[in-house]
Amino acid sequence: MRIVSGIQPSGELHIGNYLGALRQFTALQDEHECFFFLADLHALTELPAPETLRDRVVATAIDYLAVGLDPQKATLFLQSDVPAHAELMWLLATLTPVGDLERMTQYKEKARDAKKRRLVNAGLLTYPILMAADILLYRAEAVPVGEDQLQHLELARRIAHRFNDRFPPPLFPEPNALMQKKGARIMSLADPRKKMSKSHGPETYIGIFDSPDSIRKKIQKAVTDSGTTVSYDPRRKPALANLLTLYALFAEEELRESAQRFSHSGYAIFKQALTELLIQKLSPFRERRQTLAQSPPHIRAVLERGAERALAVSQETLREARTRMGIA
Ligand code: AMP
Ligand code: TRP
Repeated sequence: MRIVSGIQPSGELHIGNYLGALRQFTALQDEHECFFFLADLHALTELPAPETLRDRVVATAIDYLAVGLDPQKATLFLQSDVPAHAELMWLLATLTPVGDLERMTQYKEKARDAKKRRLVNAGLLTYPILMAADILLYRAEAVPVGEDQLQHLELARRIAHRFNDRFPPPLFPEPNALMQKKGARIMSLADPRKKMSKSHGPETYIGIFDSPDSIRKKIQKAVTDSGTTVSYDPRRKPALANLLTLYALFAEEELRESAQRFSHSGYAIFKQALTELLIQKLSPFRERRQTLAQSPPHIRAVLERGAERALAVSQETLREARTRMGIA
């Protein structure tokens, strides 16, 4: 399969991101033809400071390479290095009803926030057309995304359908979402009713690149439920269930097995084992990130090679789309 996904250059990553998204990327690259790009054009809609955006893009590329994205297997590139994204977006914009864009949940939420800052920029509205262009340009069949992006993907399918209908024979596959089943929702260490998220403070999540010391402290402080024995009971012991889920996902075993393994242990012994497991699994990432951060030219070379490959594929689709529409 041909697979495409965009990565927001949004700063520090936590183990929820890893289990919910990044790990899936690194698994997909072994089986499929993958195009992964840093969505810097999309990031512009948030009006970042230029230096911040530049730094974040490089930092995010490093983070993804550190957790195992392999440029030998997948194509990793910067969206803005491939002008065809913006050009196809324009072509597709002429096939997209404004009403569809105004109905998007993300647009409504972001426009509400932006209103307070007094600039609801048009990029916020046309964001999903650019996303459709990102996907259709590579004629991707599948797109790994989180739940919040499903509505955008559905719009991309409709745009593909409309193009195929008006300019036959069909050029674009209608892309399907690839969603992770297990581990799709890792919860906060401080409150098992909330999703693990950067926005709730550093003590509520474990960063992918946290030091062993920090992991130790955070797991020690993680809330558990009343009682003393370890069992998987999401309704009555949601905090423990979250920690057991983490254990099982990182140990790559069934939840049942993890619960069984600790059924005769107290919380302290379980937390100790979870801590050791996390340190063991995350340390290689941290070490690789340190190495990568020391060679910016290597990162640039990876992105340049990725862009070359993306350019070749995208040019072909763009040329065909233009011809079908009567441009040249
Ligand atoms: P975000 O930065 O929130 O857009 O998340 C980036 C990716 O990580 C998306 O694919 C999300 O679905 C995934 N993700 C974020 N938070 C979690 C979480 N607590 N548990 C599982 N996956 C998550
Ligand atoms: N909008 C996506 C997000 O916020 C990022 C993205 C941009 C994307 N273009 C894409 C994801 C194309 C999948 C395919 O996460």
